[in-house]
Amino acid sequence: MSEKKDVLTRGRNNQELRIIIANLPRHCRTILDAPCGYGRISNLLASKNYQLVGIDINKYFIRIAQQDATQRRNSVRYLVGNILTKQINKKFDAVLNIFTSIGYLETEEKNELLIKKLCNYVKPGGRLIIETMNPIAMFRRYEERSNKVTNDGKVFSFRRYYDYKTATMTTRVRETRSKKLKFSGAHIIRLYFPHELVEICNKYGCEIDQILDQRGHDGDIMDSLRMWLIFTKRKQ
Ligand SMILES: C[S@@+](CC[C@H](N)C(=O)[O-])C[C@H]1O[C@@H](n2cnc3c(N)ncnc32)[C@H](O)[C@@H]1O
Repeated sequence: MSEKKDVLTRGRNNQELRIIIANLPRHCRTILDAPCGYGRISNLLASKNYQLVGIDINKYFIRIAQQDATQRRNSVRYLVGNILTKQINKKFDAVLNIFTSIGYLETEEKNELLIKKLCNYVKPGGRLIIETMNPIAMFRRYEERSNKVTNDGKVFSFRRYYDYKTATMTTRVRETRSKKLKFSGAHIIRLYFPHELVEICNKYGCEIDQILDQRGHDGDIMDSLRMWLIFTKRKQ
């Protein structure tokens, strides 16, 4: 996530925290953050006295999350594991999937299975909160190539290819420092349009309440590169 280091600022984390808290169900106590990365949101929520479980496949991130929780004297249950296979024998008042954490798996089936797992972890009447890229706005400003220089002097160049048949975006990334190549790789993501997430989550019992722009405002998301989808689990 080093190319994102200057994006995930304290200001942004706090803004996300405010949006999440504003959209939690009433009397919310238990929250699953899946995947939780290095705990940037879980630890902030735990400081507000919510009971957090955070899961991530990356051991290194979980170690950082745990250390940060200890420093803050928070008690968070951090788990290393694959969301697709790990069993958490509990349902939660709210489940979070933040910072484009869907669409990275190898197949359409696995991507949908992950969304199904998220829906299944929500208690009836609880909330599922998804925050991800908004393909509508992305395509309005589509750039096949772009560059970015971070505050610590790293230069990233990006080259994008969108496959219309699979709705996947491949981004080739090259990182250079003082003109020397430091990293080169690619990430591939299945981009979900809002109506697709609405449909998939509905299939697994979560009904859409609101679609918000990146600042958490209700209204037109046409120009908002990110979006929040707030679902409530049916009571049945
Ligand atoms: C874009 S990061 C977002 C992390 C966190 N939600 C945040 O906002 O900082 C995506 C995370 O998904 C984790 N991940 C990817 N596949 C996973 C899986 N199958 N099970 C659990 N975690 C996974 C990665 O290790 C990474 O930390």
